[in-house]
Amino acid sequence: MKPQVLLSGASGLIGTALREILAQEGYGCKQLVRRPARTSEELEWNPQSGKTPDCNRLSGTEIAIHLSGANISSTRWTDARKRVLVQSRVEPVRALAAALCQTEPRPKVLVCASAIGIYGERGDEVVDENSAPGQGFLPETCLAWEAAAAEAAACGIRVVSARFGIVLSPRGGALAKMLPLFRLGLGGPLGNGREWMSWISLEDTARALIFLGQRAIDDPSAPLVEAVNVVAPNPVRNADFTRQLGHVLHRPAILPAPAFALRLVFGEMADQALLASTRVAPTRLQQNGFEFHHPALAEALRHELQ
Ligand SMILES: NC(=O)c1ccc[n+]([C@@H]2O[C@H](COP(=O)([O-])OP(=O)(O)OC[C@H]3O[C@@H](n4cnc5c(N)ncnc54)[C@H](OP(=O)(O)O)[C@@H]3O)[C@@H](O)[C@H]2O)c1
Repeated sequence: MKPQVLLSGASGLIGTALREILAQEGYGCKQLVRRPARTSEELEWNPQSGKTPDCNRLSGTEIAIHLSGANISSTRWTDARKRVLVQSRVEPVRALAAALCQTEPRPKVLVCASAIGIYGERGDEVVDENSAPGQGFLPETCLAWEAAAAEAAACGIRVVSARFGIVLSPRGGALAKMLPLFRLGLGGPLGNGREWMSWISLEDTARALIFLGQRAIDDPSAPLVEAVNVVAPNPVRNADFTRQLGHVLHRPAILPAPAFALRLVFGEMADQALLASTRVAPTRLQQNGFEFHHPALAEALRHELQ
C-alpha cells in the first residue's frame, strides 16, 4: 500500500499538480486548509495564529509535504510585505514540525518547500547543494525557513528542504506572468539576457516531491536533514529561455525589458528574483536516480503549454 501523505498549500500551483499525481499513483492525501474543513480529507489549521492541526487526525501520515507560504512575486516587496513573506513560512513550518513530533505513530519525513533563491546572485558559477548560501532577503528567508523545518529532526523525522527553481506552468508562477506579453509578440530578454535561469517543469516538480518523500521512507541511509535542488539538469541563459519560449509560441521575442525599467516597476524584487543569475545543478536528485520527464527546456515548455 502507498504511504499516506499530508499536504499544506494544497490549493497552490505546485500543490494542485501534486494532488493530481498523488491520486493517479494511488497515494492517500489529507490536506491542511486555512478555512473550515469541507471533507474528511481536509484538516483545518491556521498557521499564522498558531492553530495547529489536531494530532489525532494526523495519525497515519507517513509523508508530510509543506508548500504553504504567501506568494513571493504577487506584489512589491515593501517592509510589511517582506514580514508577511517570512512569517508565512517560518512560523507555520515550525508549528507543523511540533505537531508532527506529537503525532503517534510519528510521520517518517517532512518535505518542506524552499527555493534556489537561497543561493542569491551567482553570475556564471554552477551551484549545487554544497554551495554556500548567498546574501540578501531571499537567501536569509530561505535559511530561516529551512532551519525551522529542520526542527522536526529533533524527534527523528527526516527533513528534506526542496529548493525549487522556476517552476514552469501557464497556471501560475513566472511563466504565467510572461505569457500574455509573449503571446502578443511583445516579449524579450530581461536585463542583458545573460542571467542563468534554473527551471523545472511543473510535472517534474510534483514527481520530485513524491520521489523525495518515498526515498526518505525506503532508503535507511537517507540523511536526517538534507537540502535538494529541484531543478532540471539544463539551466539556460535568459536570452536563450526567451528565444525558446518565442519559438514554442511561434511569436517573435526580441523586445528587451531593460534592468532600469524592471527596477522601477518591481523595486528590490527585480534584482533579487528577476535579474538574479543562478545556475543550479540538481546534483542530489541525479545522484539518487531521479529521472526527469522533461530535462530539456523546449520540450518542457511544449509539454506545459500544450
Ligand atoms: N512556483 C515556483 O516557481 C516556486 C519557486 C521557488 C519556491 N517556491 C515555493 O514553493 C511553495 C509552493 O509554491 P507554489 O508556486 O505552489 O505557491 P502558490 O501557488 O503561491 O501557493 C502557495 C499556497 O500557500 C498558501 N498560502 C497563501 N498565502 C499564505 C499565507 N499568507 N500564509 C500561509 N499560507 C499561505 C495557499 O494554500 P492554502 O490556501 O491551501 O493554504 C497557497 O495556495 C511556496 O512556498 C513558494 O514560495 C515556488
